Amino acid sequence: MVHMPTRDQVIDALRTVIDPELRRDIVELEMVRSVEIHPNGVVDVMVSLTTPGCPIRTHFETGVTQAIRELGEVSHVNVSFDVLSDNEKQALGRKLGRGALPEGALAQVSNVICIGSGKGGVGKSSVTANLAAALAAQGKQVGVLDADVWGYSQPRMLGLGNERPRVNAERKLMPLTAHDGISVMSIGFFIEQDAAVVWRGPMLHKALQQFLEDVDWGALDYLLIDLPPGTGDVSMTLAQLLPQAKFVIVTTPQPVAQKVARRSAEMATKLKLEIAGVIENMSAFVTPTGERYAVFGEGGGQLLAEELEVPLLAKVPLTMGLREQSDAGTPLVLSDPDDPAAQAIYQGARGLIALSPVELPVMQAPAPAAAPKPVGMSLPMA
Ligand SMILES: Nc1ncnc2c1ncn2[C@@H]1O[C@H](COP(=O)(O)OP(=O)(O)OP(=O)(O)O)[C@@H](O)[C@H]1O
Ligand SMILES: [Mg+2]
Repeated sequence: MVHMPTRDQVIDALRTVIDPELRRDIVELEMVRSVEIHPNGVVDVMVSLTTPGCPIRTHFETGVTQAIRELGEVSHVNVSFDVLSDNEKQALGRKLGRGALPEGALAQVSNVICIGSGKGGVGKSSVTANLAAALAAQGKQVGVLDADVWGYSQPRMLGLGNERPRVNAERKLMPLTAHDGISVMSIGFFIEQDAAVVWRGPMLHKALQQFLEDVDWGALDYLLIDLPPGTGDVSMTLAQLLPQAKFVIVTTPQPVAQKVARRSAEMATKLKLEIAGVIENMSAFVTPTGERYAVFGEGGGQLLAEELEVPLLAKVPLTMGLREQSDAGTPLVLSDPDDPAAQAIYQGARGLIALSPVELPVMQAPAPAAAPKPVGMSLPMA
């Protein structure tokens, strides 16, 4: 007696099949047209595509077949295709549009990269600041959005202390400029030093949305986003606003990587963002005489990268220089490019460049010059 999977089980299994362009699963996208389960162990599935000549047909075919075969008791899976009607495509567009930024915001930004980690204090902010400077040193236009609204650190790390952002003629906030023309925006620019910020859900959402929509980021090759630790509200909101963003996970070398790996993989699934790679930070400390101390263990970054099937972009060693630079305001990659940590970050930057599609941002005519005037944001203070 063969126990065939139920229709619900098949549908559930199909939730693991992701449309690589739309970054959502085919069930959520309502692209599963029909499912038929035959008593002889054969399952027929019809998937609707957005265009007839869809190059990702085989991706769906393999994905659907594998997902259903994993249910057991299935002898064969037939996958067929049809095309969404114009009405269905419009409905899909509306569905995808919900929560996303309006057309035009960040239109000139080629790559959005969120730098995150499963836990705090692993060096996300240090890596972000240095990666930004390393990319800028390679001739890229770079922006940094400090999305750690509670523990912002980019103003300090990039040496932007006392200035306040201004608005331009189009009533957009101008990011501040750090070393080598890095455009920077942080909540820290708007509040008194060390004042605590109390954020509630909708306000937080609004503030982040403002940072993306109402800031004149201009044409950027890379917008790096320094995330707060974990998968809190900030990460969720950003993932929702920026479905095109990629994710770089910073981790330490502890070989408890199994647990960290699982948490990071869960985080990526939850955020529905593509993972671009892993950066291991605080790798072995090497003394000037060449002695090596693996203070935080070894191999964690490699394990995590293997687990997630993404490249290990860099192994950044612990160095005195990297610790000291966070307070000095000049990224180590600029102040001491020969430091082993700086070298590793340059390598990470080159890796990121190699991963990015070569695509020139659309240039716009420069806005007419106008006398800038200072602005404030309405922020809840404690
Ligand atoms: N490779 C390194 N070598 C030496 N010190 C480092 C290194 N990486 C980070 N640090 C130091 O570790 C501390 C934490 O780093 P950082 O603030 O970048 O971490 P974070 O992940 O952003 O933390 P949080 O989760 O609080 O945002 C800082 O004092 C920083 O200078
Ligand atoms: Mg940080």
